[in-house]
Amino acid sequence: MPKRIVVGISGASGVIYGIRLLEVLRDHPEVETHLVISAEGAHTIKIETGRNPREIAALATRHYEIDNLAAAISSGSFRTDGMVIIPCSMKTLAGIATGYTDNLLTRAADVTLKERRTLVLVPRESPLHTIHLENLLKLAQMNAIILMPDPPFYIQPKTLDDIIDYVVGKTLDYFHIEHDLFRRWQGG
Ligand SMILES: Cc1cc2nc3c(=O)[nH]c(=O)nc-3n(C[C@H](O)[C@H](O)[C@H](O)COP(=O)(O)O)c2cc1C
Repeated sequence: MPKRIVVGISGASGVIYGIRLLEVLRDHPEVETHLVISAEGAHTIKIETGRNPREIAALATRHYEIDNLAAAISSGSFRTDGMVIIPCSMKTLAGIATGYTDNLLTRAADVTLKERRTLVLVPRESPLHTIHLENLLKLAQMNAIILMPDPPFYIQPKTLDDIIDYVVGKTLDYFHIEHDLFRRWQGG
């Protein structure tokens, strides 16, 4: 069976991270990507990149509409290697943390948690208030990986692409997908 990764793009700033992840995974024929973009995710893609969300959807192996709760990824019986939400808005975070799964993005994340699969969340908001922090803590305690999209400056990023590739590369690490998107620390 190919590796299957569910990719969610929500309406937080930084949709470019999700787009870059899809572009990188397109060059990995051993990996299937199953994509769901929230309504605000699609809106943010237009605002932040000027690109058409349909064009982004075409990067994935399969794409599902946000209100299609009968999609394959809505069921735990559809086997996957896990899910990443990149970027993850505070609203989507809250839906997952409270089990309120009223769209395919939050439902697929809920399934990932209940099936004890890898869930990587790339949250984006600043500053954070108590509810955001409580939701992050709750999900970290359920073994979700909270991957903040902030770069380590010891890699000496020269461009925004360096920073984006670092976050995408770190995401791939959790799914055991080989890449050379950034230079790994070998000691000072
Ligand atoms: C351009 C833009 C940037 C946004 N950035 C953020 C953000 O960084 N973090 C966040 O939590 N919400 C952000 N929002 C607000 C969310 O889009 C909003 O809360 C929305 O309801 C999230 O819905 P979703 O989680 O279903 O995508 C942004 C909205 C827009 C239009």
